[in-house]
Amino acid sequence: MSVAQHLKIKLSEYDERIRTFIPNYEEMLDEVAATVALFGKKQPTIVDLGIGTGALAARCLAISPQARVVGIDSDADILALARRRLSQKRAQQPTLIQGNFLENALPRCDAIVATLALHHIAEAKTKQRFYAQCFAALRRGGIFANGDCFMAENAKLSQRYMEIWQRHLRRFYSLRQAQSFFTTWADEDTYFPLAQELVMLKAVGFEVEVVWRRAPFAVVMGRKS
Ligand SMILES: C[S@@+](CC[C@H](N)C(=O)[O-])C[C@H]1O[C@@H](n2cnc3c(N)ncnc32)[C@H](O)[C@@H]1O
Repeated sequence: MSVAQHLKIKLSEYDERIRTFIPNYEEMLDEVAATVALFGKKQPTIVDLGIGTGALAARCLAISPQARVVGIDSDADILALARRRLSQKRAQQPTLIQGNFLENALPRCDAIVATLALHHIAEAKTKQRFYAQCFAALRRGGIFANGDCFMAENAKLSQRYMEIWQRHLRRFYSLRQAQSFFTTWADEDTYFPLAQELVMLKAVGFEVEVVWRRAPFAVVMGRKS
């Protein structure tokens, strides 16, 4: 399913509409970019999984202008938007790969970043195996930083997190519209508990940290020390 179909939007509206869907969207992206910069080299190779329109990569480049960006996304139309955004006035052009990040070999790199993309991995086993591939692709000292929705292990807390999220959507949409979005997204999206994500990352060798949390969203970091 394309991004436009999944989110029930016109793709040209993505950058505007994603802010109505995700509370603190910009802050989350900024935290991922800042985490990469904190540990990064001067000229890092940064792989953006599910690069979308390139909003996260653009933030990484704003902090590390000499970075080399490799973006992977399965949606050709959204990749065209990323290309337009990231190619402007840049000597170093991004490498944009159309494909499934679970199937494409990851290039050797200094940072792997993602926002709102890895919740498309439905199975914990598949996700942990993918984390192992990320760990292997990173150079020593490399950083994995992922901003996404992560639930609580406790069901009551998770329900509260969903209410917080719905409250955000209700600033822009009717109750019916908000519920309809959640129903559509539930077909494709899986939000594991934050604690389980940390266990999965640790299990493949990462030193882990939660660098930002505005439930139900968080930025999780893994360092290959
Ligand atoms: C909600 S968008 C997030 C885009 C961007 N990272 C952002 O934060 O605005 C999720 C993106 O991940 C891509 N995606 C999801 N699963 C993928 C997969 N297995 N392989 C490649 N791209 C994937 C989608 O095509 C989409 O562009």
